[in-house]
Formats: sequence, structure tokens, C-alpha cells
Amino acid sequence: MDSSKLMLSIHISLFILVINLCTVPMLGSCFDRIINFGDSISDTGNAYLSSGNASTSIGALPYGMTYFKHPTGRWTNGRVILDFVADHFNLPFVQPSVGGKTPEYFQKGVNFAVGGAGVLNNSVFTRMSGINPAQADNSLWVQLQSFNKLLPLIANGSDVPTMMNKSLIFVGEIGGNDYNRGLASLVPLEKITTWVPRVVSAIGSAVNILIK
Ligand SMILES: *[C@@H]1O[C@H](CO)[C@@H](O)[C@H](O)[C@H]1NC(C)=O
Ligand SMILES: *[C@@H]1O[C@H](CO)[C@@H](O)[C@H](O)[C@H]1NC(C)=O
Ligand SMILES: *[C@@H]1O[C@H](CO)[C@@H](O)[C@H](O)[C@H]1NC(C)=O
Ligand SMILES: *[C@@H]1O[C@H](CO)[C@@H](O)[C@H](O)[C@H]1NC(C)=O
Repeated sequence: MDSSKLMLSIHISLFILVINLCTVPMLGSCFDRIINFGDSISDTGNAYLSSGNASTSIGALPYGMTYFKHPTGRWTNGRVILDFVADHFNLPFVQPSVGGKTPEYFQKGVNFAVGGAGVLNNSVFTRMSGINPAQADNSLWVQLQSFNKLLPLIANGSDVPTMMNKSLIFVGEIGGNDYNRGLASLVPLEKITTWVPRVVSAIGSAVNILIK
């Protein structure tokens, strides 16, 4: 869980920096869109929609009850932190990537986060842990591949560096599920701790790929 805490504190510090720059009125709106990668902490509907809205418990109340008044695929009764971030920048709630297929749908942002997602893809995770994840592979690696496929729709004819330059990009929280899988399979904590460098380094690689 250390990596999650670390990522969270990195997010918080980056976010504070961004808020300071973006609250200068003369600079206008800082971002055209938000692009997010993660797990259930920031999923705004991907797991739910991919399951034909049948995804376990989240398709029923109390999920969604306090804000949307109906289940939306968020793993909470209210909004996720990402919703508040979008609100802050006067952007609409970030659309789940599986929910649309047009530039219009992706114009103000796209969310690749999927509930249950880990950082390491299933083959790498199995090699490291000896555990076969039961879930479909929605890892950070797979999320980056989906992003790559959707780039033409997201950029909609403008060049990718320009599009990225006007996007607020979040990577995480993600990583908790890599450890959760070990805990659920009763792997000793001392062993799970040895996975941390692999997970953290894969998050670092993903960030570097996005920067490039
Ligand atoms: C699933 O939910 C979404 C959003 O609430 C809705 O637009 C869609 O029609 C639903 N799909 C099914 C198969 O019920
Ligand atoms: C996408 O690009 C086309 C052609 O430049 C433009 O007409 C359209 O408004 C754009 N759509 C969005 C959502 O930006
Ligand atoms: C899993 O991720 C590694 C990088 O960490 C990559 O080299 C490999 O191609 C990926 N495998 C699959 C099946 O996606
Ligand atoms: C990104 O934005 C900055 C500040 O507006 C600008 O100086 C820079 O040239 C832009 N880079 C690209 C690749 O668009």
C-alpha cells in the first residue's frame, strides 16, 4: 500500500501546484480535458458498462444514491475524487472510455480507470506471484493500449503533442489491487512487500510513456 500512499501524495502536491497556476484569471482555462488512468477509486463507469450494467453490487443502490440518485458505475454512493477535480476546472465529469465512440464524446476528457485494475498485466503478475488473476486484464498496461487506440478520436485531427499539452493527466491511484490479490490469496505480507518495487517501477514506466 506504500506506493498508493506515495502516488496520492504526489497527486496532492501536483494538484496544489496546478490549482495555483490555474486560478490566475488571466490565464483562462488551463485544460481542455482530463485523461485518467486507475482503478475503482476513479472508475466512472468502465467496469459497470463493460459488464452490461450487471457488475456485481455497484449496479444497485446504495451506489450512486447521494449525488446521481441512481447507480452510474462509480464504486461509491457519491462522487469520486476525479469528479471534484473536473468540477474545479469547469469540465464535465470524465467519461468512461468504453461508453462512446465519437470525438464529441471524448472532447472534454476520457477515463480509462477500471474497478479491480492492477498495475501489472495478468501475465507479468502471474509470473511474479504464481497467482492467476480471475478478472479480465484491465491493468495500467492495457489502459495505455486503449488510450493509444483512442488517440485519433481524442485528438480529432489536431496533433497529439498539442492535445496532450492541454490535458490534465492523472495516473492513479493504482497499485492497491496488485497487493490486494496477494492478500486475498493469503500470500504472506513479507512476500507481498517484495512486489512493491515492480509495481512502482511499472507505474513509473507508464508515466514516462505518457510524457513521451
Ligand atoms: C447502462 O447504463 C448506461 C448509463 O447509465 C446506459 O446509457 C445504458 O443504456 C445501460 N446499458 C444497458 C445494457 O442497460
Ligand atoms: C473534430 O474535428 C472536426 C474537423 O476539424 C470538427 O469539425 C469537429 O468540430 C471536431 N469535433 C470536436 C468534438 O472537437
Ligand atoms: C505485459 O506488460 C509488459 C510490460 O510490463 C509487456 O512487455 C507485455 O507485452 C505485456 N503483456 C501483455 C499480454 O499485455
Ligand atoms: C505547450 O504549452 C506551452 C505553454 O502554452 C507552450 O509553450 C508549448 O510550446 C506547448 N507545447 C506543445 C508541444 O504544444
